[in-house]
Amino acid sequence: MLEGLDPEKIPAHVAIIMDGNGRWAKARRLPRVMGHREGMKSVRAVVETARKIGIKVLTLYAFSKENWQRPQDEVSFLMRLLAEYLQKEVDELHQKDIQIRAIGEIELLPKEVYELLVQAIKKTSQNQGMILNLALSYGGRAEIAHAAREIARACLAGKLKIEEVDEALFASYLYTKDLPDPDLLIRTSGELRLSNFLLYQCAYTELYFTPTLWPDFREKEFLEALKDYQRRERRFGKLSEQLKS
Ligand code: IPE
Ligand code: IPE
Ligand code: MG
Repeated sequence: MLEGLDPEKIPAHVAIIMDGNGRWAKARRLPRVMGHREGMKSVRAVVETARKIGIKVLTLYAFSKENWQRPQDEVSFLMRLLAEYLQKEVDELHQKDIQIRAIGEIELLPKEVYELLVQAIKKTSQNQGMILNLALSYGGRAEIAHAAREIARACLAGKLKIEEVDEALFASYLYTKDLPDPDLLIRTSGELRLSNFLLYQCAYTELYFTPTLWPDFREKEFLEALKDYQRRERRFGKLSEQLKS
């Protein structure tokens, strides 16, 4: 069942920047949106594999705050696709004991999508098998600025002392407050950047970049990324020798 993986080293939290849908379509002379549609199949495959091998949290970067600047047709298509995903897949995710969550400025989503999302979150809130965390209208800097504002507000209201503001307290004001930091971050399509994703949380995350375009990233490619991760030594600033004792 573990497909050649070490069961002792399954990452608790995997985050994925699902990139390259447009290029996948372009290579086939198809409209960009066909790449997004094909990419949904990869979402299904990766969610299924993650659940099967016992990953606890899977965060998918589905739409960035910056993506609102794309042509309106493409934004609308992505929103419709998201609505379709929530309509068609939530029952199955629920059956698989998957809890849906979202991070980002989700109140900016079209009303219909927002409502479907809130319903899905509510319906699956008691599930324990895996957390599927969707980053929607998400920006890392916006998240950090939001946390800073909320902390300032709490200090001014006398609910928090300035001296109490440390790394852990700050993290507790982020959208990811009750989630572990990602152990592994995957980005497809060959781009070597974070594009404003989980900036605070990825301080010690292992990074995996692959030229594979998102619509071509399925179980086999995901397992390869996980095997690569399992070969790494995470030192967190210490020496290799210190880890073995
Ligand atoms: C990722 O694919 C999907 C989203 C950002 C929503 P892209 O649409 O960025 O595809 P490329 O990078 O143009 O190939
Ligand atoms: C990052 O991909 C956002 C998502 C995958 C949702 P982009 O394609 O938007 O990133 P940039 O603009 O190339 O950095
Ligand atoms: Mg892209």
